[in-house]
Amino acid sequence: MTSKKTATALIAAGRSKKFTHGSVNPVIQRASSLVFDTVEEKKHATINRTKGALFYGRRGTLTHFALQDAMTELEGGAGCALYPCGAAAIANAILAFVSAGDHLLVTGSAYEPTQDFCNKVLNRMNISTTFFDPMIGDDIASLIQPNTKVVFLESPGSITMEVQDVPAIVAAVRRINPEIIIMIDNTWAAGILFKALDFGIDISIQSGTKYIVGHSDAMLGTAVANARCWDQLREQSYLLGQMADADTAYMASRGLRTLALRLKQHQESSLRIAHWLAERPEVAQVNHPALPGCKGHDNFVRDFSGCNGLFSFVLKSKLNQDQLSNYLDHFSHFSMAYSWGGFESLILANQPEELAAIRPAGGVDFSGTLIRLHIGLEDCDDLIDDLTAGFIRIKEM
Ligand SMILES: Cc1ncc(COP(=O)(O)O)c(C=O)c1O
Repeated sequence: MTSKKTATALIAAGRSKKFTHGSVNPVIQRASSLVFDTVEEKKHATINRTKGALFYGRRGTLTHFALQDAMTELEGGAGCALYPCGAAAIANAILAFVSAGDHLLVTGSAYEPTQDFCNKVLNRMNISTTFFDPMIGDDIASLIQPNTKVVFLESPGSITMEVQDVPAIVAAVRRINPEIIIMIDNTWAAGILFKALDFGIDISIQSGTKYIVGHSDAMLGTAVANARCWDQLREQSYLLGQMADADTAYMASRGLRTLALRLKQHQESSLRIAHWLAERPEVAQVNHPALPGCKGHDNFVRDFSGCNGLFSFVLKSKLNQDQLSNYLDHFSHFSMAYSWGGFESLILANQPEELAAIRPAGGVDFSGTLIRLHIGLEDCDDLIDDLTAGFIRIKEM
């Protein structure tokens, strides 16, 4: 990013006159075909089709270019590819850099569909994956093989929230083989709380579905690449037909304007609730990156500029099916749903054995039920009252 502070950059990014045509926001340009008046114009568009010329809908319109410009500036890259959802961004970013016979290193704390993509799709193409302990740090060097092409991180990890030692991992990978492409699922940081490319990572991927869109009403994926990876990421994703629709791109640009403010409130409320949970007798541990009990908390303090509303905690006991239903079915403000990053509070539960099944490198060292919360923008007192009532429901059974 430039010298602008993040909140200011989020207001201005992607709003240059060429995208807004005199209004405050980028225009919504819905198009498959883009019309050329002359042969010369068509020739110019063809030559410049990867450099912001209007060419064909799948290469993007002004609405897409505005969002791509904004994301590129905010994450400090050379370009941003757009996808219909975060899972598509992850799959296509990896696919852009691997071939049959290659090997991948993926954090064992990765989002489950990321792991499934490696195990069920890449595996079929004779591309093998080794999952590693998210807290591996410099020891990742010992897992690098001559055919390792990609190292894939996610920090904090999905559900269990381990914060990785990215500087140590990047240094070790570069020492062994500087050609390896390092990617991160940077969704938790919304691309701004952790500046992945500044840490030497090549590609920062986000499910824009979460904090960027911010209202749980659209799906989007983004991948911002540095100069050495941008051309390959852009072209390979294009060949695989990846793009988002113009309306979603517009909604994502609009989401950016309130991102700093929303994150500030998510952070304030999630910190208050996490500290409150840490004092509850029913709670064994709180996995909030900003609290010392979270694995990799020191890495968080060193590398992140803030936090958001997503964290988990572990109960001292393992709830049985009836207790689980009684606990989860009656919240007033926490809805039960996948995803996160919207304005609303969400809750999900995982039993330790379910988590162990999706932690191929281990690390599930607790026996109680894990609860994942997304703390939304409701009044924090109401959320605490709701959680208190939940604990009473467990006790009553
Ligand atoms: C960490 C993380 N990455 C990626 C995704 C996938 O994003 P999408 O749902 O937009 O495909 C999710 C979705 O929950 C996620 O939590």
